[in-house]
Amino acid sequence: MHSLVYRSVAVENFELPDIYKMLSDARLFNSRHNITGCLLFHDNQFLQLLEGEEKEVERLFRRIKKDSRHHKLEIICEERSSIRLFDEWSMAFHDYGLNGTSANLKLNQIDRFFEKSDAFMKPSTLAIPFFANVKDILFDPL
Ligand SMILES: Cc1cc2nc3c(=O)[nH]c(=O)nc-3n(C[C@H](O)[C@H](O)[C@H](O)COP(=O)(O)O)c2cc1C
Repeated sequence: MHSLVYRSVAVENFELPDIYKMLSDARLFNSRHNITGCLLFHDNQFLQLLEGEEKEVERLFRRIKKDSRHHKLEIICEERSSIRLFDEWSMAFHDYGLNGTSANLKLNQIDRFFEKSDAFMKPSTLAIPFFANVKDILFDPL
């Protein structure tokens, strides 16, 4: 098992309806290739966790890197791991909504999202850098 977390910034005209369309194709692809994970979106910023066989994750990530709908791509962490945090999800998605939402509400949303996936219950070294970047994206506007 291999896990990779990266963040990136959506290009200007890549908006929610396009993201939902991209997600429906992505979920089909991911479930066929046994890839799971989650994608968070806030203030035009993406944070994605990809989990699966190393060669499948690397192959998909090469395609994602070439995708012109986002840029400023930065790998947060990449490691061999023994567990999937999102084993039931071909790509869980959460849009944090408008920027005006209060900090507490946003933090509650993260909690609920992760509770649903059971990811909170699993020990993972990815969790610390992952959540550090969730907070960065939520509270440090571009
Ligand atoms: C932020 C972001 C996340 C993406 N996540 C996935 C994904 O999890 N699975 C997937 O198949 N495609 C995903 N894509 C789409 C791929 O970049 C790519 O368009 C798709 O794999 C089709 O590849 P192709 O354009 O080379 O045919 C994502 C794109 C973006 C911008």
